[in-house]
Amino acid sequence: MNDDIVLLVDDERNILNSIERLFSEDDLSILKAGNAEEALELVRNRNIAVLVSDNHMPGMKGIDLLSTVRTVSPDVVRILMTAYADLPTAIEAINRGEVFRFIVKPWDDDDFIRTVKEGIDRFRIVRALKRADEATLLSLARTIELKDKYTKGHCDRVASYAVAIAGALNLPGETVRDIRYGGWLHDCGKIGIPGSILNKPGALDDDEFDLIKKHPAWGADVARQAQLSQVIVNIILHHHERFDGKGYPSGIGGTDIPVEARIVAVADVFDALTSDRSYRKAYSMKKGMEIIRSMRGSSFDPEIADLLPLLIREYGEESR
Ligand SMILES: [Fe+2]
Ligand SMILES: [Fe+2]
Repeated sequence: MNDDIVLLVDDERNILNSIERLFSEDDLSILKAGNAEEALELVRNRNIAVLVSDNHMPGMKGIDLLSTVRTVSPDVVRILMTAYADLPTAIEAINRGEVFRFIVKPWDDDDFIRTVKEGIDRFRIVRALKRADEATLLSLARTIELKDKYTKGHCDRVASYAVAIAGALNLPGETVRDIRYGGWLHDCGKIGIPGSILNKPGALDDDEFDLIKKHPAWGADVARQAQLSQVIVNIILHHHERFDGKGYPSGIGGTDIPVEARIVAVADVFDALTSDRSYRKAYSMKKGMEIIRSMRGSSFDPEIADLLPLLIREYGEESR
């Protein structure tokens, strides 16, 4: 796809030109605007994927431009360029959901390019999710999987295990369908995590782990923006909560965790245990089930953990 448009907004011509040069090798259309008014005109008339705006400009400031764009055209992914001194403003804007990322001036070229490309990924994901047909959802889940070489087929298997558990719990058909979609998409927030961290062979340091821990909230944001159902959003947001309340991101426990997320949590870990990882070979189905059972009541809802023997019967040791 080479029709994605990036709009750059800065009152300094030479800055616009040097940013444009960063993307001369890429399949992107670049538009430039010298102020907020010009930018808004373009947002109204063109299908902009990513907007990168300087904050300090005569007239309307970048941050106000971005929050206006959020109302006028909410799918545009908004990136703020800011001086180091303005960092608190930028972080606040991120927390309010007004800005996707910020870039600190003077920027590092590779960082700049990566941030914009992640913005384009995000734009494409929301657009695809809005169509929300099965084929699109599944192919999207597989694209995300490709980023992490150890999780090939993971989303698909998590979805099947989760659907089997949901069936055993007699959940309504519509919920079961959304659990399948949620299973496919549970890790979609990983799109925001650099591949170098996802595929790091050794142990992660604290900062890297903190970043990994953001994937549920990032993914849920994307799902909400695409107006997916609450069941799907719950799965994406809460699949790393623990039954004893020691999980993330909310730290809720017991039945405060929506049942769909408790189901996918078991399915997710069970598949991780029974797949090869960078640091160990796959456990057998039987061993995987024992490990899950040993975590009933701590990590997992005991009732759901106890349904796993059903899965073993259904999928069998051979089918792997
Ligand atoms: Fe996850
Ligand atoms: Fe997962």
